[in-house]
Amino acid sequence: MHFLDINKTDPTDLRAMIDQARAMKVARQGQSKGMVDADQPLAGKMVALVFEKPSTRTRVSFDVGIRQMGGQSIVLSGTEMQLGHGETIADTARVLSRYVDLIMIRTFEESTLLELADHASVPVINGLTNRTHPCQIMADILTYEEHRGPIAGKKVVWTGDGNNVCASFLHAAGQFGFDLTFTGPPTLDPDPVFVAEARAKGATIEIERDAAKAVAGADLVVTDTWVSMHDPQSTRERRHNQLRPYRVDAALMAHAAPDALFMHCLPAHREEEVTSQVMDGPQSVIFDEAENRLHAQKAILRWCLGV
Ligand code: CP
Ligand code: NVA
Repeated sequence: MHFLDINKTDPTDLRAMIDQARAMKVARQGQSKGMVDADQPLAGKMVALVFEKPSTRTRVSFDVGIRQMGGQSIVLSGTEMQLGHGETIADTARVLSRYVDLIMIRTFEESTLLELADHASVPVINGLTNRTHPCQIMADILTYEEHRGPIAGKKVVWTGDGNNVCASFLHAAGQFGFDLTFTGPPTLDPDPVFVAEARAKGATIEIERDAAKAVAGADLVVTDTWVSMHDPQSTRERRHNQLRPYRVDAALMAHAAPDALFMHCLPAHREEEVTSQVMDGPQSVIFDEAENRLHAQKAILRWCLGV
């Protein structure tokens, strides 16, 4: 079973993954990071982790998670593979499927992920494309629920760029039943397809240009970098100028509910999209999010492999 996007995965399965991730996390509490889990569901399994873009969290959390569950991994960089030198995605998929039991890929175009999934005979996991980042949002749902209980019916506010991480939050709004308000400049709105789909699934999705109004009563405030890995550096200055009113600082957080949480997928640019005061403040759960990539992805791997 592929894990390509949150909107493509059954809500019952998504819920089961979150619950299993939480149980696996609890079972490991207090253990050294290098200890293997009591059961070894990935024993005998080989996983390829393919990166066409840089990564700290995705790379380390997948690798550690696979080892904890008794599997093995090979980390591959796109530029060092024939993939980066003209071999087709389809042929790469067919070849990798002869060696490994699962492929995780971080790439640029969504079409690369989909072509890989179409031609692989093993499960494929989306480790981020220009368009979405589903593993991150699974970790974020786990994080919210650990701190505050069910996310269904809550108000999430995304502030800044309507990018790939925002898109997966919109997918999750539809699948997990929470409301989402986007606040950012009109030039950086999320793709209307994501908004329409979440609305069609019953989620209330609002677009509000005034950041303070948007954040009013929020249960969760989320932002991300103003320049993503696929964005040309030439757009940096324009993006910064447009996004400055959407920086998350203590004054903006003061409009949210008193027990609101703050999230950021990281890596963050301190004092750009968010102040250090908020990042390091009591409402911030950014390092829990980073940790939960590990636990959430272990559940995703098990679901994909049916183990
Ligand atoms: N949040 C996230 O995906 O981080 P990396 O780019 O470090 O993997
Ligand atoms: N939006 C960011 C997320 C990084 C994890 C990017 O695509 O670069």
